[in-house]
Amino acid sequence: MQRLFSTIRKQVISRWKLVLPLCFLLILLLGSGVYALSQSDSTQNTVTEEDAGYDEDVVVYPLEEGDGDDEQSDETEDEEQDDEAQVVTPPTTPQPETNSSGLVSLLVLVNKHSAISPLGYSPSNLTAPNVTKRSGAVIDARASGALESMFTDASNAGLSLMLSNAFRSYSTQQGLYNNYVARDGQTAADTYSARPGHSEHQTGLAADIIVPSGTCSLEACFGDLPEGKWLAENSYKYGFIIRYTKTNKSEAGYTYEPWHIRYIGVSDATSYYQSGASSLESYLGKPAAPDYL
Ligand code: DAL
Ligand code: ZN
Repeated sequence: MQRLFSTIRKQVISRWKLVLPLCFLLILLLGSGVYALSQSDSTQNTVTEEDAGYDEDVVVYPLEEGDGDDEQSDETEDEEQDDEAQVVTPPTTPQPETNSSGLVSLLVLVNKHSAISPLGYSPSNLTAPNVTKRSGAVIDARASGALESMFTDASNAGLSLMLSNAFRSYSTQQGLYNNYVARDGQTAADTYSARPGHSEHQTGLAADIIVPSGTCSLEACFGDLPEGKWLAENSYKYGFIIRYTKTNKSEAGYTYEPWHIRYIGVSDATSYYQSGASSLESYLGKPAAPDYL
């Protein structure tokens, strides 16, 4: 037995120079393997700024309060941190509902607090109404027939209306707004011209009405003309409201525009008129939007 132990000891001592480096190599390989695995896991779980919605074009909405509370209770700390990283500041603009054709709701609210969504929205059903109009004027088809009936009835009442413009694209509004800013400064421009993405004209549901002679065209005095008075008293019957009145700047955000009408449909326009609502904001129970947020 002693001889056996002695032989083993001799063998170990004679080969330790070979075994020791091998053990060292083995430990090194195992260590680097474990490190590589841990790195690949953390790469998958890391939410970059882009993923988390900080990319300009990607908006990630915050979780509703209380959402997923139960599931989260079993999460590891790492997973909880990932959830936190995905929560970003919400957009200041509620997303308007669109119907199955991709058209905004007739009651869509576009103002200084609420931009149109998507920002490049353009109605797919734009049409040139059969009324006296400036060349190129087009409107959402849902408002076109109503506009035509209104013009016919105004004409029967001895009044002559003309459509100046209705739909304006984001880029058209941008050009207009920039020109006004260059001319009058931004503070003044913001009182009468919407920033791109914030104009009702982009919905295709707003229209600027003038008289063919050009008297008081897009001026407050249009409201004193027989045509302007008739519009204020009768446009609701066709589904339109006067959006920017003498008294609602603190709610709707703009100075008086007796020429700017907005189509919301006959039923709502009638309720709006009969209820004496001061603005579309208050009619819809939404906050006043005097300024940009
Ligand atoms: N003039 C109105 C506010 C617009 O620019 O849409
Ligand atoms: Zn207008």
